[in-house]
This record gives sequence, structure tokens and C-alpha cells, in this order.
Amino acid sequence: MNYNIAVIPGDGIGPEIITEAMKVLDQVGRKFGHTFTYTEVLMGGVSIDTTGEPLTKEALETAKASDSVLLGAVGGNVGHSNWYSLPPHLRPEAGLLAIRKGLGLFCNLRPAVLFEQLKQACPLKDEIIGDGFDFVVVRELTGGVYFGERKTTVENGIRKAVDTMPYDENEVKRIARWAFEVASKRKRRVCSVDKANVLDTSRLWRQVVKEVAMEYPEVTLTDMLVDNCAMQIVKDPTQFDVILTENMFGDILSDEASMVTGSIGMLASASLGESKLGLYEPSHGSAPDIAGKNIANPIATILSAAMMLRYSFDLTKEADSIENAVKEVLNLGLRTADIMSEGCTLIGTREMGDSIVGQI
Ligand code: NAI
Ligand code: MG
Repeated sequence: MNYNIAVIPGDGIGPEIITEAMKVLDQVGRKFGHTFTYTEVLMGGVSIDTTGEPLTKEALETAKASDSVLLGAVGGNVGHSNWYSLPPHLRPEAGLLAIRKGLGLFCNLRPAVLFEQLKQACPLKDEIIGDGFDFVVVRELTGGVYFGERKTTVENGIRKAVDTMPYDENEVKRIARWAFEVASKRKRRVCSVDKANVLDTSRLWRQVVKEVAMEYPEVTLTDMLVDNCAMQIVKDPTQFDVILTENMFGDILSDEASMVTGSIGMLASASLGESKLGLYEPSHGSAPDIAGKNIANPIATILSAAMMLRYSFDLTKEADSIENAVKEVLNLGLRTADIMSEGCTLIGTREMGDSIVGQI
């Protein structure tokens, strides 16, 4: 089958890591009999230099017409006079918000994977991490307190501010369905995180998630209060498979989850909407400090491409083949600089891509 992928290399290390991810996809295509057709889309600083805007309407339309979008990273040196003298809505990072909104992406998936081979990067103790851990935070992205009504007033000389946290059952249902879909392709466990002992939105959340769970009898659902979850991620991260949570809790927990893995060059992410079209990108930024030197770690982007195969194209074996190839390469002791340790072999961006291709 043919899949049309809109590819956004972006700025900084973006083009280097995207090149490696495309090499890996092409190898998967050869092995499993698929073709991947790439259409390059301009976004971020490179788009500003060419078109004057971080994301043009035409670029967004191209992304919308694709089967899925693979993104490197955008932005760069704050010292870049052409990009950062512009008002915020015309700067490189505005392209990110515009494409997420334009594609209607309400679900953010952030895996936190600690590979056994990279244990020394993990800030947690050995007895806590065991053979490593692998869970994913499913965060609602377009509702809750970040999008609720807010007001700042002064009453009788006292400054006062109010934020509200609205959710309706349909918003909860659609994000819960994604969490159960994701879990059904993993270890089939969803832990729904809320603050139901205090918040009405959380009580609604818990009820609706329970209803959605009935559609997925093969997946086990548990609930956890958010403050406890923050503790459990550092106390025993191996207990989790899928953590499902609302926007603000997810913002905080997904940052915590990525920090406990200790390696920014390894972490993938996905943003999903109503359709199968998703936006897949590494969790890190454009790393302008190391751009153009063939030293960036392409694995986060390569694992993002694997997520695209799994969640947008339902190509499970193919996604597994990429993830296994990454593990094999780590087993061989091959490392980019960011994950280098004693006794391992230091290689560059291209060589890491080639090694993963070789393993597939
Ligand atoms: P960053 O993630 O780009 O870099 C932080 C540190 O991690 C740097 O020392 C960098 O060299 C290193 N690093 C990042 N990715 C790496 C990789 N694949 N291999 C090896 N080392 C890696 O974050 P920073 O410096 O805060 O932001 C740089 C630019 O990226 C900014 O303009 C920022 O706005 C943008 N950004 C873009 C994102 C996106 O496109 N989704 C997300 C985050 C930041
Ligand atoms: Mg954050």
C-alpha cells in the first residue's frame, strides 16, 4: 500500500534527523512491501525566510491532504534577527500552534521509555527501574483550564483572578477512546488520572472514562489521583502502561515522565485528532547548538515515525521492527554523543540512521 506523508524538516537539526527517519521508513517499505511518498512542507524559520510566514495556508492544506505528518523541529537561536524580531504570532514556533490547531489535534501522546541499555542516564535508583520502563501519557490537549473562561479583577481594592476548568462528556469520551485504542495496541492497561476527591470536572471525567471502558473489555482500567500519580512516576514507573489525563495534569505529568528517562534525544511524541491523521515529532526542539554537525541523535524522530506506523496506519509489525532495531543498535553499543557512555562506540547522526536501517 502507498502512504502519503507530509514531511516538515523545519530548522536546526530538523533536516538532519528527518532524513534519517525517512531512510528508516524506506527500509520498512522495502521489507514489508509498502511505499511511502513524501511531500515536503515548509514550517518555522525556513518558511519565514521563504514566504514571510511560519506556516502558509497552502502548507497547512498540504498537511491536511496527507495521510500523516512527520515533523523535525522548528525555531532556533533567539539571536536570529530575522525570526525573533517579528511579533510572536509570526515567529517560528507559531507554526506549531497553527498546525496543531489546523489539524484539530486534541490528543497528545508522550511515551516515556527507559531502555535497559541506557539505565545510567536515568536519575532514578537501579532497584526502582529494574529492566527499564515503557509507558505513555495520553494528554487531552484542547480543553480544561487552559481554554476555560478567565478573569482578573480588582474588588474593593483586592486583586482577584479566576480560571475555570470546563469539560463536557464528549471531550472526555474522545480522548478516553484514544487512550483505550493506544492501550489495546500495548499492554492493555489504562490508568486514568484525575482529582475526583475535589473537582467536579474530575468526577465527570472518572464517570465518562468508566463508560468508555465498557467498549474495551480487553483493557483494564484503574483510577489514580493526580498527586499520587506524580509520586508513583518516581516511586515505581514500571507499574504504568497508559496514563490518561486532562490537559493541565498531562502537561505536568508528561514533563515529569520524560525527565525520569534522562535522555531527550530518545523521546518520541504524537498528536492525534478525530481521524487517523496525526502529527508525529520528537519531544525535543531544534537544538541550534549542535545543528549541521552530524552529532544529533535521530532516534526520537525515528521512534516518532514508528508511532506513525502504529497509530495512523495500523502497521504493528512494521512499527515493532523499528523499535526492535533501535534496541539492537543500542545492544551493539552504538551511541550518539548525547547517550554516550564508557565502553560504547561513538557514532554520528547518519551512522545511527544507517545502523538502524541495517538492523531492519
Ligand atoms: P532543545 O530540545 O532544542 O535543546 C535542548 C538541549 O538538548 C540542547 O543542548 C540540545 O543540543 C540537546 N538536544 C536536543 N535534541 C537533541 C538530539 N536529538 N540529540 C542530541 N542532543 C539534543 O531545546 P531548546 O534549546 O530549549 O530550544 C531550541 C529551539 O527549539 C527553540 O527555538 C525552541 O523554541 C524550539 N523548540 C521547538 C520544538 C518543536 O519544534 N516541537 C519543541 C521545543 C523547542
Ligand atoms: Mg510543558
